[in-house]
Amino acid sequence: MEFFDSHAHYNDEKFKEDRDKIILENYNKGIKYTTCIGYNLQSSKDAVDIAKKYDFIYCTAGISPNDINDNVYEELDEIKEIAKYKKIVAIGEIGLDYYWNKDNKELQKEVFVRQIEIANKLELPIVIHTRDAISDTIDILKNVLPCNKKGIFHCCPLNVELIKEGLKLGYYISFSGVITFKNAKPDLAVQEVPLNKILIETDSPYLTPEPYRGSRNDPSKVEFVAKKISEIKELNLEEIAKKTTENAKKIYNIQ
Ligand code: NI
Repeated sequence: MEFFDSHAHYNDEKFKEDRDKIILENYNKGIKYTTCIGYNLQSSKDAVDIAKKYDFIYCTAGISPNDINDNVYEELDEIKEIAKYKKIVAIGEIGLDYYWNKDNKELQKEVFVRQIEIANKLELPIVIHTRDAISDTIDILKNVLPCNKKGIFHCCPLNVELIKEGLKLGYYISFSGVITFKNAKPDLAVQEVPLNKILIETDSPYLTPEPYRGSRNDPSKVEFVAKKISEIKELNLEEIAKKTTENAKKIYNIQ
């Protein structure tokens, strides 16, 4: 079976020791595509370097709401340049996070909008990180500056209202290992997303799915996310693998 991990951080320092080894192992285990996601300037550059080395890895560039520093405007100029590379498939991860940062909401919104502008200029979709900021996120996408190429709600909060709004706006919904957690209650959220709008991701090295929770996550474990979706939707795993791969190729515009 072949899988597409739509959101992983091979650029994270937790892969520093064994990055090349694990990338190749995972490819041989069936992880035929991975998008390596940037979250600040350095990790975006690193994502590009990794994508240059492996033809089955694609990459994104962006500054997450939790990585906004005093040089953010200079950094955005650099992100704009980096994002011209041909294997950059989206701007991200970008968005709003009022769980970790409550004190700079206006700045977060502005940095989010500035990056949607970059996406629109380069005709790219966006990868959205939203936490405890659902209504402001939807407001920006709907009323402030829509992204022309749409995008993905990554590690989507298991909130049916958000999912409905996101789908209405034309976005894909991506689920992570969180849906396998024992206390998660993901059924209604997963059922809400039609098969042609659903993506799977690991967000590795974080959010390790059950039964491996507690150890380092990596893209090979995306299978457990797919398995959980197949149980909830009562479809076979192969169909979930195939459909989520097709969907990821479509939104990331990969031939
Ligand atoms: Ni991430």
